[in-house]
Amino acid sequence: MSRINNRWFEHKSWLKRHKGLTVGLFVITILLFVAIFGHIYREQVLSVLGIEKTVEAEKPNVQEEMPVSEEEPTIDPKKPMIALTFDDGPSKHTKKLLNTLQENEAKATFFVVGENVERYPKIIKKVEKIGCEIGNHTYSHPNLTKLKPEKIKSQIRRTSNAVKDVLGHATYLVRPTYGAVNKTVVKNVQYPLIQWSVDTTDWQKKNAKAVEKYILKHAKDGDVILLHDIHATTVEAMETVIPKLKKKGFQLVTVSELAEARGVTLKDGKQYFSFQK
Ligand code: NI
Repeated sequence: MSRINNRWFEHKSWLKRHKGLTVGLFVITILLFVAIFGHIYREQVLSVLGIEKTVEAEKPNVQEEMPVSEEEPTIDPKKPMIALTFDDGPSKHTKKLLNTLQENEAKATFFVVGENVERYPKIIKKVEKIGCEIGNHTYSHPNLTKLKPEKIKSQIRRTSNAVKDVLGHATYLVRPTYGAVNKTVVKNVQYPLIQWSVDTTDWQKKNAKAVEKYILKHAKDGDVILLHDIHATTVEAMETVIPKLKKKGFQLVTVSELAEARGVTLKDGKQYFSFQK
C-alpha cells in the first residue's frame, strides 16, 4: 500500500517539477490532433466555415494548367526537325489545316498578310492557341524591293499592328514577299528575314499528291519548307504529309523553335534559309 502511494507521490512530484514540460506536451498533443482531424475532414471543416467557394474556385485553375503542359511535347534538339511555313493567309482553308496540325501535335509558322488578318481574326487566335507561330508577310503583298523606305516600313508596321489588335502582341519574324530582298529592304524591315530551303511550288502544282511527293523526297533535318495556306490542295496535302513526316522521325516545329534548338539567335536584318546542324 505504502509502495503504491510512494510511487504515486513520486509521479506527482515529477509532474510538479516538470510542470512546463507537461503543459507543453499537452498543447502539442492537442495541436497534432487538431491538425490531423482538420486534414482528414478538410472539406467538411471548410464548408462549415463557409469557405467552400474558395476551394471550388481554385480547382478549375489547376485543371486549366494541366492540358497546356500536356499539349506541349518537349523538343529534342538531337532529333531531326523541320519547320513548315505557310504564306499569304489566313484564308478560308486555314481552319482545316489547323485541325490537321492539332490532331498530329505538330507546329508550323504562318507568315500572314495584314489584309487577311483583318478578315480572319478568329483564325489568328487559333493559330496561337495551338502553339503555332505568326510571322509578318507584309500588309498587301507588294514586292518590297520596288518600294521606297517609308512604304516598306508601313507594310510591315500595318500587319504587325493588325496582329497586335487581335492577340495583344506584335509580330517579330518577317518573310519577304517573293523572297525578294535588297539593301533597302534589309535596312527598313529591321526584323529577322526568314527565307526557305525547300520550295514546294505548291501554288503552281495545285495538286495534293504532287506536293506530298515533293516534300517527302526533299525535306531533311533543319529545313524551312515554303507552302501557302490559300490553296485547298496544299491544305489537303498536309493531311498525309504531316503524319508521314512524323513517322519518318521529324519533329514539326516553328521557325523560332527550330532556330533555338540549333543554338541560333535570330538577328534583325539578317536572312535565314535553313537551320541545319
Ligand atoms: Ni507570298
